[in-house]
Amino acid sequence: MNSIVKNELLKRLFEAEGEPVSGQEIADQFGLSRTAIWKYVKELEKDGYVIGTIRKKGYYLIESPDRVNEANVQKYLTTKKYGQHIHYYETCKSTQLIAHDEEQNGAADGTVVIAEEQTAGRGRMARPWSSTAGKGIWMSVITRPSLTPQQAPQMTLVAAVAVTRAIQEMTGIDPDIKWPNDILIKGKKVTGILTELQADPDQVKAVILGIGMNVNQNESDFPEELQGIATSLKMLTGKPIDRSQLIAKTLGFLEIYTELYVKHGFGPIKMLWEGYSNTTGKRIRAVMLNETIVGTALGISEEGVLELKLDDGTIRGIYSADIEL
Ligand code: BTN
Repeated sequence: MNSIVKNELLKRLFEAEGEPVSGQEIADQFGLSRTAIWKYVKELEKDGYVIGTIRKKGYYLIESPDRVNEANVQKYLTTKKYGQHIHYYETCKSTQLIAHDEEQNGAADGTVVIAEEQTAGRGRMARPWSSTAGKGIWMSVITRPSLTPQQAPQMTLVAAVAVTRAIQEMTGIDPDIKWPNDILIKGKKVTGILTELQADPDQVKAVILGIGMNVNQNESDFPEELQGIATSLKMLTGKPIDRSQLIAKTLGFLEIYTELYVKHGFGPIKMLWEGYSNTTGKRIRAVMLNETIVGTALGISEEGVLELKLDDGTIRGIYSADIEL
């Protein structure tokens, strides 16, 4: 089956908002028969779309499945680049692994890999990431900003601000960011971001932003060890959230803030990030690979490094750590 024809059919069905779409017109556009178009309609029905037929008028969309596929996300997109190419999987090991392969094969800036389910989702510090089917947003965004490798870690904070803004707009809730990029609501984690870099010695080739958002899970959808420390937007608002719309909003803010960062430097992002931070001013423990230190978080530097004032008055820059509040 040709996915271009299928996507065009779906796009037209969405745009028509329940009004009939002529099968003949699409058949003519692609030089196909009406029977061929009918076969695409049957394919869409297998994917979970409910489509009606009116004789001599065409097909109309009755219901679309709760899937975060290309057509569902793109109907909400407002971006120029991010999300213009979406590669969707019902299930995969990790969208991050696929994104790395696609990056190597020359994927365009803003290409997104999305899955309903990950069987081997991974988090920071090589931890597993729970990715229940159909309940969350598991996506990796291949970005190609014009940055030096030294500037790339700040993209983590750019992504954290973008996700926070998107959650705020969708739910009306104000999340907190725990340095560098955990997004918490009422002290529980709703989103994690994994930033991975492909770079030449003096130029970034790609920053791959792996975003995992807990959206429509109930408490029992989380493994036991996460119950109590993780939460979902549905658990917080009491309502299911349209995941496709939330993806589109996140990509929108990500594109805006990446452009802002590339054009105007880290200053504006730092300001936004600090507005959401729940770390600044707090006494924290920074757990690193070889040591744990305790101190007061002063804020982030111009490079996005967390500055910690120790009890003896010295100031330490923290580049990578788990923060305990
Ligand atoms: C964290 O440890 O907080 C980061 C979690 C990142 C999870 C996302 S889900 C989509 C992408 N694919 C992965 O395997 N991991 C990231």
